[in-house]
Amino acid sequence: MPIAIYAGSFDPITNGHISIIRSGLVAFEKIIVAVLINPGKTPLFSVDERFKMISDALSNEPRIEVDCFDGLLVDYARRRNVQVVLRGLRAVADFEHELKMANMNRHLYQEMETVFIMANDYFYVSSSLIKEAASLGGDVLGMVPKAVAQKLREKFFPQEPCQNKE
Ligand code: PNS
Repeated sequence: MPIAIYAGSFDPITNGHISIIRSGLVAFEKIIVAVLINPGKTPLFSVDERFKMISDALSNEPRIEVDCFDGLLVDYARRRNVQVVLRGLRAVADFEHELKMANMNRHLYQEMETVFIMANDYFYVSSSLIKEAASLGGDVLGMVPKAVAQKLREKFFPQEPCQNKE
């Protein structure tokens, strides 16, 4: 199993994603982390910002490529000549949606297989919960890379006064 695509919104990347990617590298020689460009949604971070945060977080891993895609994942996979999609499973709640996606993708591209890796340490972490907590001033360090935590503060509290100021 040489190459897999790990696609997602990554708005933003979390330590949960990174944990799945690192586990995936045990099974795959290379993983393409593919950021979805979804014009129908308004993400917190632009594609460029998401791309950079992922690249920085995984910069020490030569077997990772970061890329972007729009349209169908199966079309992107065909273009890249990859037949495996890697997904993480956090909880039972993920299962139904993932089962549907995996089968839809297989329907659209018969040779496409989805491989699941069970989340362990970060099973409770999701980008949307991270954003909610961060938007309310919660400390999300430990659940996202340090640089991502910083970017979240900048997004939600751009006018934050200098802490040393009286
Ligand atoms: O991080 P996410 O939001 O769980 O990722 C979902 C993603 C990007 C993998 C999925 O929405 C996707 O593949 N989107 C591309 C459009 C597509 O192929 N849709 C049909 C899949 S069922």
